[in-house]
Amino acid sequence: MRRFRGGDHSKCPSSTWSRWCLCCAAVACVLCSPVSAEDGCPPSCTCARDSGTVACRGSGEDTDVPGDIPEWTSALVLQGRNISVLQRGAFAANGTELGVTTLSLSENGIQIIEPYAFLGLGRLHLLDLSHNQLTSISARAFHGLPELRSLYLNYTLLPAAAAQLSDALDTQSLRSLHRLELAGNALRSMPLARLDIYNLHALVLVNNSIESVGSENVTSLYQQRRLRVYLALNPFRCSCELEAFYYWLKNSSQCADAARLVCSEPEAKRGIPVEMLRDDDLDCMNENLEAVSYVFLGIVLALIGVVFLMVLYLNRRGIKRWLNNIRDACRDQMEVYHYRYEQDSDPRLANVAV
Ligand SMILES: *[C@@H]1O[C@H](CO)[C@@H](O)[C@H](O)[C@H]1NC(C)=O
Ligand SMILES: *[C@@H]1O[C@H](CO)[C@@H](O)[C@H](O)[C@H]1NC(C)=O
Ligand SMILES: *[C@@H]1O[C@H](CO)[C@@H](O)[C@H](O)[C@H]1NC(C)=O
Ligand SMILES: *[C@@H]1O[C@H](CO)[C@@H](O)[C@H](O)[C@H]1NC(C)=O
Ligand SMILES: *[C@@H]1O[C@H](CO)[C@@H](O)[C@H](O)[C@H]1NC(C)=O
Ligand SMILES: *[C@@H]1O[C@H](CO)[C@@H](O)[C@H](O)[C@H]1NC(C)=O
Repeated sequence: MRRFRGGDHSKCPSSTWSRWCLCCAAVACVLCSPVSAEDGCPPSCTCARDSGTVACRGSGEDTDVPGDIPEWTSALVLQGRNISVLQRGAFAANGTELGVTTLSLSENGIQIIEPYAFLGLGRLHLLDLSHNQLTSISARAFHGLPELRSLYLNYTLLPAAAAQLSDALDTQSLRSLHRLELAGNALRSMPLARLDIYNLHALVLVNNSIESVGSENVTSLYQQRRLRVYLALNPFRCSCELEAFYYWLKNSSQCADAARLVCSEPEAKRGIPVEMLRDDDLDCMNENLEAVSYVFLGIVLALIGVVFLMVLYLNRRGIKRWLNNIRDACRDQMEVYHYRYEQDSDPRLANVAV
């Protein structure tokens, strides 16, 4: 465009002509501007300025985030780019704020998310990191995303990253978070240390490895009345540990797919919908009663023993006297017997002789 205007200018010596030329240039400029935006489209990307979408599909050898993302981009989609490490400020190469509101990074082989990776994306509403192979997420990975409403992390966490997730999500920076999807990550528990820092309306935990939801979590869930939780395809262990969760399921209606939760342990209850269990299936009193009664019996016996020992101790003098008396009595008796024996010995011998 600049080249065009420069070339034209050289052909216009007089002032009227130059005014005419300027006018021409302005018109050309307006006409040309979409073309210039097209020019701003990074290589290997397709750009649609109307919708503000830039989609960059790599072939596996692109290992970077494209550096020259047009300013007007509102939705950036990267796919198949073998990114592996999402570095600090990966989308703010020039330290400028981008107006991107949707960022989709699914299927880019991302393994590591460094601290402040999303710096400069202060207006981001939706972040999709699904279908990567995360082994490490920094505790400060999601800093600087105060407007983020939807975070998708489906089928993307390897065990090491799953262990770090709770720290990464525990940030005031995610205070606008509305929807969190964590399907298919082999999670064994709810990976949120607290729920009151977000504005969560949907928490998707389907197809994980959750066997039980503890009463601490149930209490937190009760406090978030607007939150809907999805928990299908988890291997629930229907023992009495599940009691608090069972009552939450039955009487809070916060579990959006409650009818699809099924027991997988113990053997006898496999396949039974959790909702269909009977109250006494999960009654910890039944299960613990036997143990409790043995403990109680033990305590009673111990108390009796202690009382007995105390009685003995307090009466030690009386007992000593009593023992002495008995001993004396015994001795007297023995003496009497001895005496009688000696007296009787002769007649008995005489009898034997007869
Ligand atoms: C991705 O990049 C790494 C090096 O950064 C390389 O070892 C690996 O083979 C690449 N994977 C693909 C699918 O190209
Ligand atoms: C970003 O930096 C590159 C070179 O480093 C420059 O060409 C480009 O104009 C910059 N973009 C913005 C929006 O500042
Ligand atoms: C996973 O995330 C995507 C967004 O990429 C979402 O549309 C989809 O519903 C999620 N899948 C599951 C199984 O929840
Ligand atoms: C659940 O996740 C596993 C991998 O974690 C996957 O192979 C399976 O297809 C998923 N099931 C459904 C119903 O999405
Ligand atoms: C949920 O339970 C897990 C595991 O017991 C615990 O680490 C976490 O802090 C609990 N979260 C909430 C919000 O109660
Ligand atoms: C919810 O479950 C508890 C048992 O923990 C029960 O006492 C309570 O009445 C139930 N609330 C409603 C509204 O059904």
